[in-house]
Amino acid sequence: MSLDYHCGIATLIFMKYLLSGIQLGKIFLWQKILQQRKSLPIATVEKRLLEEVRKNDTLIIVGETGSGKTTQLPQFLYNGGFCRDGGLIGITQPRRVAAVTVAKRVAEECGSQVGQRVGYAIRFEDVTSNMTKIKYMTDGLLLREALLDPYLSRYAVIIIDEAHERTVHTDVLLGLLKRVQKTRSQYANKQSNVDLMKANFNTLIKREENGPGVGNLQQCQRRNSNPLKLIIMSASLDARGFSEFFDNAKAVHVQGRQFPVDIYYTFQPQTDCVDAALLTIFQIHLEEGPGDILVFLTGQEEIESVERLVRNRIRQLPEGSQNLSTFPIFSSLPSEKQLKVFAPAPPGFRKVILATNIAETSVTIPGIKYVIDPGLVKVRSYSSESGIDSLITVETSKSQAHQRSGRAGREGPGKCFRLYQESLFDKLPDSTVPEIKRLDLSNVILQLKALGIDDIFGFDFMEKPDEKAVIRSLETLFLLGALTDEAKLSNPVGQQMARLPLDPMDSRAILLASQFNCLKEMLIAVAMLSVESIFYAPPDKLEQSRAAMRCFSSPEGDHLTLINVYCTADEFFEKSLASNSKEKAEKNLRNWCKENFINSRSLKHARDIHSQILDNVTRMGLRVTSCGDDMLQFRRCLAASFFLNAALKQPDGIYRVYRSGQMAQIHPSSVLFRSKPECIIFKELVQTTQSYVRNVTRIDPLWLSELAPQYFGVQE
Ligand code: CDP
Ligand code: MG
Repeated sequence: MSLDYHCGIATLIFMKYLLSGIQLGKIFLWQKILQQRKSLPIATVEKRLLEEVRKNDTLIIVGETGSGKTTQLPQFLYNGGFCRDGGLIGITQPRRVAAVTVAKRVAEECGSQVGQRVGYAIRFEDVTSNMTKIKYMTDGLLLREALLDPYLSRYAVIIIDEAHERTVHTDVLLGLLKRVQKTRSQYANKQSNVDLMKANFNTLIKREENGPGVGNLQQCQRRNSNPLKLIIMSASLDARGFSEFFDNAKAVHVQGRQFPVDIYYTFQPQTDCVDAALLTIFQIHLEEGPGDILVFLTGQEEIESVERLVRNRIRQLPEGSQNLSTFPIFSSLPSEKQLKVFAPAPPGFRKVILATNIAETSVTIPGIKYVIDPGLVKVRSYSSESGIDSLITVETSKSQAHQRSGRAGREGPGKCFRLYQESLFDKLPDSTVPEIKRLDLSNVILQLKALGIDDIFGFDFMEKPDEKAVIRSLETLFLLGALTDEAKLSNPVGQQMARLPLDPMDSRAILLASQFNCLKEMLIAVAMLSVESIFYAPPDKLEQSRAAMRCFSSPEGDHLTLINVYCTADEFFEKSLASNSKEKAEKNLRNWCKENFINSRSLKHARDIHSQILDNVTRMGLRVTSCGDDMLQFRRCLAASFFLNAALKQPDGIYRVYRSGQMAQIHPSSVLFRSKPECIIFKELVQTTQSYVRNVTRIDPLWLSELAPQYFGVQE
């Protein structure tokens, strides 16, 4: 029945196109999409799902990846009338790429432009309008929206997608939404007087009096006459935890479609995953039948290096075998590039998709028959002992390995090549530890405080974070000036920090920079450090790329070096724009990047982020002044904000982090790798086989007690 309904729309649109007499190609594309939609496992249970959502305010939906949950359910709800009262359907994703690509796909399925009925919002990018009814967004962004609209009153339905990923934002949202939903139901159940609202939203109302930009009560009263429908979607088959957390909420299963996948292991352990992956790609290409290859890699750097190596090796193949093309997909890839992985390979070509763990469950790429899984994933990890957040590469869990191999069997039987020994698989942990157990919580605690939730230990988390980690994060926020002695949000510093969509230390640096007269420089530094790898060094042109990097490098460190790159690029762009169209100037900039061994993708992303943060700080009324050539001011400002990441050189040339006592070396990619100054601050700590600090700047150790007496003044 319900499918006929879609066909009805199809006919209408078909007529529309026919009447206008154009775009026959589009019609075929649309029909193809319609066919695909009809064949998704979820299509057969549309009616039942709608009934369940009507009956239950909270519903857990569990279904295998590729069954159609993310793209179809919001459309079912829209067609089922859930937006009739003017409310929105919001769907959260742990990853930006997923929010963007899925929104674009669903807009296409609806026959409209993204930003109209279907839109998306991610940090630094909002593609929605007042016509938008289905809004995809990151879980972090919805959490941020709660700061402005604590009752999430714009939403009729909120879908927390990919809940099995258990990101820290998803976990906090689950607790928050439980509260919001209860209050909205009570309100809807006629006890709609302001006293009740006040009792329930005691803390939130307090925020309204004090805090910035919180939605007002009348607005909430007007909009919140309906209870909030909450749907939790997960690809992991165990729904029990979610159901229990939501007072035994109903859970339904959507059947997936899975063909058999043969699993292969290596005989020997592999020390060089990139090399092993490369060999396997070509082995499949030359020896196996048709079908695309999906390779799981740890990050942008690794993906780009494999991409270059594959391209080089293709050239060495006989002409008839060169029909292989690579497609990268990772979070910080610009969205127009992300979408390319979904397009079919050029005729006669085999696609090799080089992906981070984003392709595990978040996005489904059609055509995959072969999966290469080195069994590694890069994760953030926080030690509450040391207070240091680091990026580490770890082995996947068994459930991740299953998800990965499953990607080969969506459309037919497939093969998965695990680049490790079978005996190792048995030793992998069953599932991944939720982020809330292993991440620095200062950012979310700041946001909870900004929401008026002061009692962090009393907050209803699905899984409680470690007490030590919470205390450590509270301490960090206090030392950064965001919290008062009583652990309340400070005014104005804490409140302003909560408004910036950045890590607390970055936010602190931005706020301080306006006092140090170097906000212009700090905005650039923060934007450049928000993206991965600005420089690239192809193995066959190492010398030239190093020489290019030297032109920008500053003896004071990586922050200043990155500012040099940004400013030189900006100057080049502006000059080029003076005598060219915007498109031409952008093209010229890309060429300039190539000549200078700068990653143009990353630079473009950094420029976009820069303009967004600039917008934020201007709206906050901060004055954007520059310290000109006096970069001492800038480095002092870094010391005043990143003092918790300060490290001192030891006689053996290794650095000791003040706060934790941890020993680390300067990463070889840093401009300070050789000069090794006495005292440094760093942006992050990376752990591979060794501990490295990355993005490092030289400071004077005497500045620490002068500029951060709250921390260094008391230590004798
Ligand atoms: O959420 P779930 O994993 O259950 O499935 P989905 O993301 O809704 O994907 C359903 C189907 O839509 C997949 O089989 C993809 O082939 C297709 N899809 C696509 O072609 N392009 C996208 N950008 C997203 C999905
Ligand atoms: Mg999905």
